[in-house]
Amino acid sequence: MDDPIVVDDLERLSFRVDRRAYTDDDVAAQEMARIFDRCWLYVGHESEVPEPGSFVSREVGGRPVILAHGSDGAIRVFANSCTHRGALLCSQPAGQVKSFRCPYHDWTFSNKGELTGVPIPDGYGPGFRKADFGLAQHRSDSYRGFVFVTFDPQQPRTLTEYLAGATEYIDLVADQSETGMEVIQGAQLHGAQANWKLMMENSVDIYHFRALHKRYVSYMQSLGSVPPRRRGGFGRALGLGHGANELPPAAARPLAHWTPMFDPELRPRMEATAARFAEKFGAERAQRITGMNRALMIFPNLMIIDAIALTIRKIDPVGADRMAITSVALAPKDEDPEIRELRKSHYLTFLGPAGFATPDDIEIIESCQRGYRNRTVRYSDLSRGMNKEIPETTDELPAREFWRQWDRLMHGDDGHFEVAHQAELQGAEKE
Ligand code: FES
Ligand code: FE
Repeated sequence: MDDPIVVDDLERLSFRVDRRAYTDDDVAAQEMARIFDRCWLYVGHESEVPEPGSFVSREVGGRPVILAHGSDGAIRVFANSCTHRGALLCSQPAGQVKSFRCPYHDWTFSNKGELTGVPIPDGYGPGFRKADFGLAQHRSDSYRGFVFVTFDPQQPRTLTEYLAGATEYIDLVADQSETGMEVIQGAQLHGAQANWKLMMENSVDIYHFRALHKRYVSYMQSLGSVPPRRRGGFGRALGLGHGANELPPAAARPLAHWTPMFDPELRPRMEATAARFAEKFGAERAQRITGMNRALMIFPNLMIIDAIALTIRKIDPVGADRMAITSVALAPKDEDPEIRELRKSHYLTFLGPAGFATPDDIEIIESCQRGYRNRTVRYSDLSRGMNKEIPETTDELPAREFWRQWDRLMHGDDGHFEVAHQAELQGAEKE
C-alpha cells in the first residue's frame, strides 16, 4: 500500500479513509493475513458450552473451529479439521458429545482433542502414534465469560492486555447479573453486500440514529417513550482499536430501566432490580450498569450493543464487498421469565435482522458500497469530534480508533496503546 489509505491529519483536524479500503480485493486479502490471522478474535460465550461435552462449531476469522467444553472441565478451541485428511470434524452448529467422530473414515477424538479411535489400525506401521494426531488446539482465553482465540502463536499480548480499556465496558455487561450472563439460545445469521468495516462503523455510529431510524423513533414516541437525545453522551477511544459510545438513560432497558414502552406491571420488578444494584454497586455505578446505553466495539470484529436489549454481534468479512453477521442476545441467567420475554421481543423489534433498525442499517451500508463504485469521490470523512475535548456519541472518535489500529496492523506494526485522542487535542489547541 504505497498510497496511504488512512489520512489522519491532526493539524487540520481532518480524518479521511480512502474508499479502496472497502472495495479492493488486495486490501481484503491483506486484512486476513495482517488482522484476522494475528489479533485476538471473539469465538463465543462460555454459557454456550455450559457443561462437559457441550460444544459449538463456527467460523472465526475465516477458519472453522470448535469451541469445546472437555470432560475435564477445560474449555478449548480446536481447528475443525480432521488430522487424517482434513474433513470438517463437526458439522453440527452445537451439541453435546463425549467424542467427535469424523464422517470420512470414522477417526474419533475425545472432547479434549485426543485421537482415541482409528478403524483398522493394522494399516499403520510402528511409527504411527495416536498422540501425534490429536486435534490442533488454538491459543484461547476468556474474559468474564467472553472466549477469544488467536491464530498467531507470536501474539505478544495476553487477552486482557489486548482488550485494553474495553475491559471496563465488558465489566459493565458482565455485572448485569449476580448469577452470570448467558446467551439466549438461537442465533440470527445474516449478511450484507458490503464491506465488513462498514458494519463496524455503523454499529458504533450514533450520528445516524435520528436520521436513519425515523420509523423506530416514531414507534418509541407512539408508545410514550422518549428516544435518545440528539446530543450528549460521550464517545471513547479504548486503545488498540477498541472504542465505545455511551448515552444517558433515555431508551428503555429490560434489565432495570422502565419506560412506558414496557408493561406497567413489570415496573415494580425492574425498580426492585435497580434498587438491588444500587445497594451492591453504589448509586453511580449501578446507574451506569442498568441505565446507560452503550455500543462497545472490540477490534477487529466484535460489537457488544447494550441498548434496549443486549446484543453480541460478530461481523466477518467474506471478500471485499460481502460480510456475514451473527447476532445473539445476552441476558442475566436469573432473569424473571416475563422480563426475559420482553427482552427477546425488544431485541427482535430493534436489533433483529427484521426489526426496526437493522434493515435500515444494512440497506444504508449496502448503499455506501454501491456509492463507492462511482470512484470519483475518493475519501470518506470521519473527522467529527476531533475538535472536542470530550467527543459526544454523535462524533466519530471510536471509528477513528478502529481505523488507526487497522492502519498500524496493515503496515505490519503490532500497534500499541497510544493516546491518539491526546494528539487530537494537541491539534485542536493549535487551531
Ligand atoms: Fe477424518 Fe479420514 S478425514 S477420518
Ligand atoms: Fe443503526
